[in-house]
This record gives sequence, structure tokens and C-alpha cells, in this order.
Amino acid sequence: MVAHVLVFPFPAQGHLNSMLKLAELLSLSALHITFLTTDYHYHRLCLHSPTHARLSRRPGFWFRSISDGLTDQRLRSADRILELYESLTYNSSSLFRDLLISNQNQNQHQDWWPRITCLVVDGIMPFAIDVANDLGIPTIAFRTSSPCSIWTYFSLPRLIQAGEFPFPFPAEEADLDERVYAVTGMESFLRRRDLPGFFRQARDISHPFLDFVYAVTLSSTRAKAFILNSFEAMDGTVLSHIRTVCPTTYAIGPLHSMLTSMSSHVLINSQSDQVLTNSANLWQQDRSCLTWLDNQPKGSVLYVSFGSYTVITNEDLLEFWHGLVNSSQRFLWVIRSDLVNGVDKEGSPLPLLSVPPEVAEGTSKRGCVVAWAPQEEVLAHPSVGCFLTHSGWNSTLESVVAGVPMICWPFFVDQQITSRYVSEVWKIGLDMKDMHGREIVERMVRDAMEGEKAQELKRSAAAMAEKAKESITEGGSSHLNFQRLVHYLKSTDD
Ligand code: UDX
Repeated sequence: MVAHVLVFPFPAQGHLNSMLKLAELLSLSALHITFLTTDYHYHRLCLHSPTHARLSRRPGFWFRSISDGLTDQRLRSADRILELYESLTYNSSSLFRDLLISNQNQNQHQDWWPRITCLVVDGIMPFAIDVANDLGIPTIAFRTSSPCSIWTYFSLPRLIQAGEFPFPFPAEEADLDERVYAVTGMESFLRRRDLPGFFRQARDISHPFLDFVYAVTLSSTRAKAFILNSFEAMDGTVLSHIRTVCPTTYAIGPLHSMLTSMSSHVLINSQSDQVLTNSANLWQQDRSCLTWLDNQPKGSVLYVSFGSYTVITNEDLLEFWHGLVNSSQRFLWVIRSDLVNGVDKEGSPLPLLSVPPEVAEGTSKRGCVVAWAPQEEVLAHPSVGCFLTHSGWNSTLESVVAGVPMICWPFFVDQQITSRYVSEVWKIGLDMKDMHGREIVERMVRDAMEGEKAQELKRSAAAMAEKAKESITEGGSSHLNFQRLVHYLKSTDD
């Protein structure tokens, strides 16, 4: 019998992207895979993800979906994440249990959907770990966010004990520069403002988001092992701290790079089944920006994208827009249809007409605006010289692999601390956290794109890209960790 792994991500773009990559990597390693998601997200994958179509045809790869229990689409937005989480816990949990029970009880000789021997579940869904433990199916937790953020969550009791959390309330701007010492390994650079955004809103230790984050983080210790999308040369120190609580932690990233490398080595039966890109797109990609990039000089374009969840005010949008145009740099900007607060019209025209004429003119001369880009391909394009990002973990890793320096404008959860690591630890970007206004944007863009500082960032980013590459090639740390993971997963069919 072939070991059969069910991969179950939290239903959100960043989670689906990295877990679908993991699923495909495991499938290339001769494991049977079922990719489970919610009906709503499954429907969007069918519409927008060519990867879904490609993998659906692959023998030994199944897609399954269950309901997330929500009837109102608005409850799936970033500011309602706890409601989605609760609905999954209370509604999808029993559907998940039923699905597993029916799978485990079916006739072993039926080959249409073989018995699941192990689960890899998103570590932010403790209910899935508990259901699997209950049914005696071995389970591994996968966290899609940065290891530095996860170690901070694990350190919450130490922060409280040291009196470093909660912050004085309300936290003044100056207070946020106070240093924090209770997170082991981060004593020399961590400030209050680098801790996840919701730490600032918590008057006491019982803030709902804080409870959520700490509970889900602890739940990973109930799994057999832990998977992180990172590599030892980048996150070795933090990984060693995480291993004090989750001893079997496989750091197997950057996953998208590992997948590209592995798929070029594996002989796939049919030519049409080759991996060109693996992307779990929930939006329609606009590939016209690649043609626009083809016509720009090498390293001249600033790519701007705030990921899948960030919501900004119309005022911030305009300040960014002025700053970008005033910087006189070329830019490619992803403005999702739901990026601006209060605007939620899928497929609506971009708000180009609402910007002042001089900004519209600067944009038509040097800019390109799309609603959703093929981001990995954009970052790998030679015309791209810098990435203004919200510091989502997938975006960060994609920039690292492409050797593209970053300007970080973090929005929420893990992004606040990731941006600190980008600027202070890895030194591959600038941190624009908590800063607003067109002058700041203009200055940061110029600093990151021209002059000595820009050259320095470029050199560090190239060095980090080299380390990422080494980690995923044969004998590299992520490659070895991945082989160990596959070895364990294969043993679950005994
Ligand atoms: C958030 C978190 O910040 C992240 O760290 C966490 O692990 C998951 O949830 P998100 O806003 O989705 O993530 O950002 P990110 O993790 O960067 O993922 C966005 C993904 O969408 C990336 O893989 C990126 O390549 C893709 N993307 C983004 C596109 O394909 N096209 C776009 O235009 C924009």
C-alpha cells in the first residue's frame, strides 16, 4: 500500500499557496495525496488556478472539500478571521471527522480513494489535530507564517512574567520604541512595535486575538511533528528555540523554490503534467504586466503588493500613490478589488479615475496597475529591482529566492516581526512599519532603488538568495529535512 497524506490548509490565499506546494512536492515523492479545502475556496480554485486543473488529472492526487459553515461572504474577510475560525471549529470539525471516518472504514481494496495514513494540517486549526488524534491518525502541524513570529507566540508567558506585556494602555508612539527582552534570541533588536499588531490593542492578557494565537500555537505541540516553510541558514537560531518545544521540526523551505527544483528532476509520465507554476490563485491573474515588465530596463521597477488580506484606507492609498509617482521610479502595483477599506466589488474597475491628474499622468508614464499579478514570475523578472511588500511570509520568501530587496510596510500578525528581521537581522530591506505619508514613501523608495544603500541591500539580498538555493539542492538543509519528512510519511502505511 502507498502511504496517503491528507493536506488540510486554513482557507486563505497565503495558506493555500504554500500548502498546495507542499502537497505537490509530496506527490512528486510518490505519496498519495488528498488536498482538502472548503467548498467556497475549492470553487475559486477551480475558477482561477490552472494548478488545480493540472493536479486533478494526476493519478494518486485527489481534491476534496467540506463546508466552512458560512453563508455570508463578508465573514471571510481579514477583519473577520476569528469568525471564520470559529465557524470552522464548530461546523467543519464534525464534517471533517465524518470524512475521515468514512475513509477509514471503507473497504481497503477500493482503489478510488485509499485509506488515509497521515495528515498534514494547518497549525492554526487545532480542531483538525484533535479530531485526527481522536481517530488515531498521525498528524503533523504546518505553520505558514514566519518562524520568528511563531517563537514570539510561544514566548508569550515569558513576556507576561517579565512584565513586558501588556504594554501601557493606550500605547503612545514613543512607548512603542521601548525594547523587549523576554523573547530568547531577540534581546538585541526587538521593540514593542515589532510584536504583532494586536499586542498594542490588548489592555490585558485576555484579548480574543491573543487567546486565539496562543491557543493555536500551543496546539502544534499536540501533533507528531511540526513543519515550517523556512531554511536553516536564514532562521537557524529561531528554529533551534522552536525545537525546544517542538523537537521534530522540519524546516523545508522555501517550498516554491524546492518545488521548481524537484519538478525539473522528476520524470513525469505525461509531458502535459509538467510543473510550470504551482499557484493556488483565488483571483484571476493579469499576465499583461509581464509584457509591460519585458519593456522596462533591468532592475528599474519597484513591485508593490500588499498580499491577499491587507486592507488600507483610501487616504493611505493616495499617499502611496503620490509617493510612488514622486519617487520618479517605475512601478508595478497590485491593487486588489478589495484592497481599499469599504470597497468590495470583485472585478470592479481600478480606482484610477479618482486620483489627481498629475498622479494619473505619472502612472501612465512610469506605472502599471493590475488587480492580481503572477507574483512569483514578477519577482523573478530581471526588470524588478525592489519589492514594496506587506511582509507576508510567502511574499518574503518569494522575494528572498529572487534576490530582490524589500521595503516592508507590515499590516498584521506575523508581518510586524518579519519586517524587523528583514531590516535588522537579514539586512535585505528597509522597514517602513508605522510610517505614513507621501514623503516617507518617496524617500524609502529612492533609498531602496538608488545610491549606496540600494547597492548594499542588493548585495545582501543576492547572498541570501544563494543560501536559499543551497538549502534546497541535494545535500542542503531543506532538501535533507524534506527527505526525512517523506521517510516518516511513508512509514505511516505500515
Ligand atoms: C498572510 C500572512 O501574512 C502570512 O505570513 C501568513 O503565513 C498567511 O497569511 P497574505 O496576505 O496572504 O498572508 O500574504 P502572503 O503570505 O505573502 O501570501 C500572498 C500570496 O499571494 C503569495 O504567495 C503571492 O505570491 C500571492 N500573490 C499576491 C499573487 O500571486 N499575486 C498577487 O498579485 C499578490
